[in-house]
Amino acid sequence: MTARTVGIHDISFATSHHVLDLRELADHAETDVDKFYIGIGQSEMSVLAEDEDIVTLATEAAQRVLERQGSEEIRTLLFATESGVDQSKAAGVYVHGLLGLSPHCRVVELKQACYSATAALQFALGIVSRNPEERVLVIASDVARYELDSSGEATQGAGAVAMVVTANPALVAIEPESGLYTSDIHDFWRPNYRSEALVDGKFSMNAYLESLEGAWHDYESNGGVAVGEIDRFCYHQPFTKMAVKAQEQLQKVAAIEASSAECMQLVGASLEMNRRVGNSYTASLYLGLLSLLNYEADDLAGKRIGFFSYGSGSVSEFFTGVVQSGYRDVLRVKEDAARLSARLPLTYAQYRELHNRVDLVEGTQFTTPHRTHSPFRFSGVEGHVRQYERVLLDHGIRGSAQ
Ligand code: HMG
Repeated sequence: MTARTVGIHDISFATSHHVLDLRELADHAETDVDKFYIGIGQSEMSVLAEDEDIVTLATEAAQRVLERQGSEEIRTLLFATESGVDQSKAAGVYVHGLLGLSPHCRVVELKQACYSATAALQFALGIVSRNPEERVLVIASDVARYELDSSGEATQGAGAVAMVVTANPALVAIEPESGLYTSDIHDFWRPNYRSEALVDGKFSMNAYLESLEGAWHDYESNGGVAVGEIDRFCYHQPFTKMAVKAQEQLQKVAAIEASSAECMQLVGASLEMNRRVGNSYTASLYLGLLSLLNYEADDLAGKRIGFFSYGSGSVSEFFTGVVQSGYRDVLRVKEDAARLSARLPLTYAQYRELHNRVDLVEGTQFTTPHRTHSPFRFSGVEGHVRQYERVLLDHGIRGSAQ
C-alpha cells in the first residue's frame, strides 16, 4: 500500500458580476495608469453587484467543485472570511443550506484577516489525517473595500475559492513542515462599525516582508527544505507586485542571488488571475495557486510549491506542497478564463455609486434588484434575516434559503 498523503483534491473559484479597469480609476485620479498596471501590478478589480456578497460567491465556487466531487463524505465545511455578514451565524451555514449539504456536517467561520483560509486548510488536513474517508470543504470568500480616493482604493477586489481536502489528493499534497509568525500590530484592520478597512499602507508592506522572514526562519528550524528545493512560489497577493517583492526578499534572506527575471519566473504564473480580480483577502493565496496550476506552461507534476500566507494584524505561515501527476485533468482552465471575461465593465461613476450604496442600505428590511448572472443571489433582508435565492439559468427562481 502506498504511503497516504493529504491535500487539495479539487479547487474552484468565483468572482463578481462587475469589473473595473484600473484605467477608470487612474483617469479619475489624474494618475498615470502605469502606477497601477506596472507599479502595483494590477489591471482590473472585481466589483460586486447589489445582489452579491461573500455567501453568493462562496456558494458558486463550492457548487463547481461539488458538482464533480459530490458532497457525500463532507462532514465539515470551514468558511474563511474577514467580510462576515453576521456577528454570530457562520456564513457557511447559508452555503450549506443553498447547496443542500447533509445535516450531519459541522460548519464554522474562521477569522484572522487574509490568513484564516490557511488555518482552515491546516485544520482540514488534520481532520482528514485522522479519518481518510472524510472530505472537508474549505471556502475562502472576501470583498476588499477601502475608502474612495484613498491610496488603497486600487487594491480592492472580490472573490471566493473553494477546495475539497482529501487523502491521496489529485492536485497538491501538502507537506507537514510549516513555519509560523505572529505579531500584534495595526497595519490593516476593520473595526465593527466600518465597512471599509483602515490601513497604514507602507507599514503593512514592511510588516508583510518581516513576517515572511520570521515564518521562513521558523519553517527552516522545523525541518523545511532549502529555498533552492522549491520550484515555484505562491504568495498572499494584496496586489501582484507584493508577491514579486516577497520573492526578492526571500532570496535575500536565504542569501541566494536571483535576478528580477528569475524571481518573476518563480512566481509569474501565480499572478495572472489576481492581477484581474484584485485583492480577495482570504482567497488571494489560493487564487494564486489556481492561477499557477492553470497558467504555468511547464509541467508542474512532482514539483514543490512554497506557500506564504499573510493576514494583517498579524499571523503568517510558510508551508509547501507537491503537485500531483495528472493534475491538469482536474483543472477548468477555459471555464475559469470565461468566468473572468464574463464580468461586465463599469464606468468610474457606476463603480462609485455601487461603492457608496453599501453604506446606504438600511439593515432590517429591503430587497435587491436582480443583477447577478451567478446561480445564487442575495435578494435582501426580511425582519433582520438575510435572504438568498438559487436561480435557474433563465433566471427563474428555483429555491431559497434564509
Ligand atoms: P501608494 O503609496 O499610493 O503607491 O500606494 P506608491 O507611490 O508607493 O506607488 C506604488 C508603486 O508604483 C511604487 O513601486 C512606485 O514606484 C510605482 P515600488 O517603489 O513600491 O516598487 N509607480 C509607478 N510605476 C510605473 N509607472 C508609474 C508609476 N508611479 C508609481 N507611472 C500602497 C501603494 C500599497 C501603499 C496602497 O495601495 C495601499 O495602502 N494598499 C493597501 C494595503 C496593502 O495592500 N498592503 C500590502 C501588505 S498588507 C497585506 O497584504 C494584508 C491585506 O491583504 C489585508 C489582510 O490581511 O486582510 C492588505
